Amino acid sequence: MGSGLCYTRTTNSPDGTKQLAATLAPYVHAGDVIVLDGDLGAGKTQFVQGFAHAFGVLEQIVSPTFNLLLTYRGERFPLYHFDLYRLEEAAQLEDIGFYETIDADGVTFIEWGSRFADAMPYSYLRITLNVPEEGKRQVSVRSVGDRARQLLCVWANDSKSRLMKSSGAE
Ligand SMILES: Nc1ncnc2c1ncn2[C@@H]1O[C@H](COP(=O)(O)OP(=O)(O)OP(=O)(O)O)[C@@H](O)[C@H]1O
Ligand SMILES: [Mg+2]
Repeated sequence: MGSGLCYTRTTNSPDGTKQLAATLAPYVHAGDVIVLDGDLGAGKTQFVQGFAHAFGVLEQIVSPTFNLLLTYRGERFPLYHFDLYRLEEAAQLEDIGFYETIDADGVTFIEWGSRFADAMPYSYLRITLNVPEEGKRQVSVRSVGDRARQLLCVWANDSKSRLMKSSGAE
């Protein structure tokens, strides 16, 4: 497996975060998984909203905190949106259809996925949102595994921003 890549951008508004997310939409393939980490209110759902709009989802994306999983029809294939904040233990992932869903023919976003790091797939993009100051968000993207590395390369090259090899190998 190649080493992980890391890509960081700072956004200045909710719309900036949505626009950044929108630039990812053309590059995802069915089966891709994106894990979103960051504190409550960091902007994980905003990111999914921006992506979904550009991905051709017509419905309004709402937080799946209580539903755990919400499914949307995208232009090319489905979008699955998990929020694992309220999940108590990894054993419950089977009950909510987690494993079938991430293997299915869609793109999957997983808020709070790192709470269950062992359950994440072989390859995924890990996006961490931090709040350096009010209104701003630092969006750090790291690839885990080969497919995510390829996805991050095309995405980051396209948006012509900082792409650097991270020190740690994945
Ligand atoms: N630059 C920014 N990018 C994204 N959101 C921002 C930014 N600046 C301020 N915000 C605000 O931060 C909040 C982000 O809320 P959001 O629901 O996306 O967070 P979340 O990470 O999904 O939280 P939770 O863990 O509760 O699901 C929104 O109220 C949004 O308006
Ligand atoms: Mg959320």
